[in-house]
Amino acid sequence: MEKKITITIDGQEVSAKPGQTVLECAKSIGIFIPTLCHYQNTTNVGACRVCVVEVENARSLVASCCMPISPGMVIRTSTPAVRAAQKMIVELLWSSGDHNCLTCEQNGQCELQNLVYWLKIDKPRFNIEPPGYAPDNSNTMIHRDLNKCVLCGRCIRACNEIQVNEVLDFAMRGSCAKVGPAFDADYIDSACVFCGECLQVCPTGAITFKQAKFGGRPWELDKVRTTCTYCGVGCQMDLFIHSVLNNCA
Ligand code: SF4
Ligand code: SF4
Ligand code: SF4
Ligand code: FES
Repeated sequence: MEKKITITIDGQEVSAKPGQTVLECAKSIGIFIPTLCHYQNTTNVGACRVCVVEVENARSLVASCCMPISPGMVIRTSTPAVRAAQKMIVELLWSSGDHNCLTCEQNGQCELQNLVYWLKIDKPRFNIEPPGYAPDNSNTMIHRDLNKCVLCGRCIRACNEIQVNEVLDFAMRGSCAKVGPAFDADYIDSACVFCGECLQVCPTGAITFKQAKFGGRPWELDKVRTTCTYCGVGCQMDLFIHSVLNNCA
């Protein structure tokens, strides 16, 4: 029989498989831990630290998405120290970008916006200092505005690990760090094949679908599953339909 490990999360005992992470175990018993850089089916990199939890006898807070469980672990997910750390991280992310939700296509489905609300943050305690990057408007499909990027690296892992196109990576260091193709090229001048995977996984409005701009807010759209008619494979895809703008009676 497969060996199980018992741990305690917020007072609840959980039995889980060795190698599972604290985040996975918490999720399995319905305990919500916020995340930002974590994305299913890609490597956990522990970039954002939004998912921190307290582990009894650990020297510091730990990132639950990367922490494998060990026998007898006692974890707390919502202590004042955990919330204070999460607020600090989210306020830093907010203040180091240009987050005007009024005009952002991601408004209503943005994970940063959701975190700000969930953590009840009125405004960041730091000065707002966006990096001032010029948007990448080089092509007809994908719009990139790195002023809204939180450097979670999800686009990089999606491009490299899911689609295996290997176009994106981090460049520069510290506060100058940014994501993009080699030599900081625009997408159109890179090896990008415009598959859209980076756009799909981006938690903010940093990468958006250009042709959908002003095509409707997320809550106005219905998702309709359909089959691509281009070849015989029959890939499934989701269409986002606006009942008024798309003229559906
Ligand atoms: S990325 Fe999110 S937080 Fe930033 S402007 Fe867009 S909706 Fe607002
Ligand atoms: S659209 Fe381009 S950069 Fe984005 S995942 Fe696809 S190949 Fe990579
Ligand atoms: S562009 Fe989006 S997915 Fe990529 S690092 Fe920035 S926020 Fe994350
Ligand atoms: S979600 Fe765990 S470090 Fe980002």
